[in-house]
Amino acid sequence: MTSPLAVEGGKPVRETLLPLHVPYFDEEDAKMVAETLRSTFVSGDGPECRRFETDLAEYLGAKHVLFTNSCTGALDLALMVKGFPEGSEVIVPDFTFTSTGLAAILNGLKVVLVDVDPENGNIDVAKIEPKITPKTVAIMAVDYAGNPVDMDPLNEVADRHGLFVVHDTAQSIGATYKGRKTGTLAHASCFSFHGTKNLVTGEGGALVTDDDNLAAKIIIARDKGTDKHTYLSDPSKKGYYEYVSRGNSYVQSNLLAALGISQLEKLERMNARRCELAQFYLSAFARYDELGLPKVTPGAESNWHLFYLLVPPSIKEYFIDAMRGEGIMANIHYNPLHVNRYYQEVCDFEADEFPNSVKFFDALVRIPLYPGMSDADAEDVVTAVDRVLAARPA
Ligand SMILES: Cc1ncc(COP(=O)(O)O)c(C=O)c1O
Repeated sequence: MTSPLAVEGGKPVRETLLPLHVPYFDEEDAKMVAETLRSTFVSGDGPECRRFETDLAEYLGAKHVLFTNSCTGALDLALMVKGFPEGSEVIVPDFTFTSTGLAAILNGLKVVLVDVDPENGNIDVAKIEPKITPKTVAIMAVDYAGNPVDMDPLNEVADRHGLFVVHDTAQSIGATYKGRKTGTLAHASCFSFHGTKNLVTGEGGALVTDDDNLAAKIIIARDKGTDKHTYLSDPSKKGYYEYVSRGNSYVQSNLLAALGISQLEKLERMNARRCELAQFYLSAFARYDELGLPKVTPGAESNWHLFYLLVPPSIKEYFIDAMRGEGIMANIHYNPLHVNRYYQEVCDFEADEFPNSVKFFDALVRIPLYPGMSDADAEDVVTAVDRVLAARPA
């Protein structure tokens, strides 16, 4: 007979809760931040910012990296500098975080939602073309859980219709698609360095592009529409700069760039550990026919930003509560845009247009994955899943 679950009064697998994610910091991170603090250059677009941008551009194989104070800001900038006519349409996957949609909305553009692949939550590329109208100007692609979107067919559709592609790579730093790093697969790509991401600066983001003209405009729009960037690198300007366009305050602190530099140095190591843990989960959970597991896009390598299980929706609530009882954090992850009040106000759609996005969300349970997790932690997760599934209601 199996012992009772913790939620039924039994002994839990762990006494202290194993969290979903913990950022990984070491002494080098602390040293970099302390040194930069002592330099007193703590505001935006400083020497560490520029070094982080150069290092990241080299790592990605990209021409321009522009450090910003969030991915949301980077996404906003990508559409802001294009100056699309008000009311133009932007294709956005239904299963994403609100920032992807906000980028369009903040720029007076209309969000047109598209359903996703029910097995990995990424935009269903085959469903993009029927949503394109004469007003469509851009497509947003989102790498859910760090698994790259199938970008070649998406870019083909975009090219055929002359559309701008923004790749929301918030979750996928270090992931590859057909041997190329995410960040190099679209006209503009936007990373997040939020505390939950694979490379952490606390808050932060970056816009990546190979387009010189786009980069020049973004450098200005990122710094409140000023051309201050040139005066910072050109002493002959004697502090002179002008207000040359609209913009916002999206530059990022030099202090956080210092953290970015040291985080980037160990990104490959941190991602390799995530991958090891993910492979352990994949082989441990393969024995359960009723569990869906993350499906990586053919030709891609995920950075394993997060790990999820697709459980039968009828046991989802039970599964989350019972896992937490066993001392393992388990959560839902973001809900489809169309179920949110705000998107119901600003978008036009039929209630049944996104069956796969609903199916994916209804089944998805996120479980712990982060580089500092030990093998014993991962084994506890598997033990808890085994116990919880063995005791599940009929
Ligand atoms: C897909 C996606 N886009 C955008 C963001 C926003 O990132 P930030 O917090 O850096 O603005 C997130 C954050 O979780 C995200 O998951």
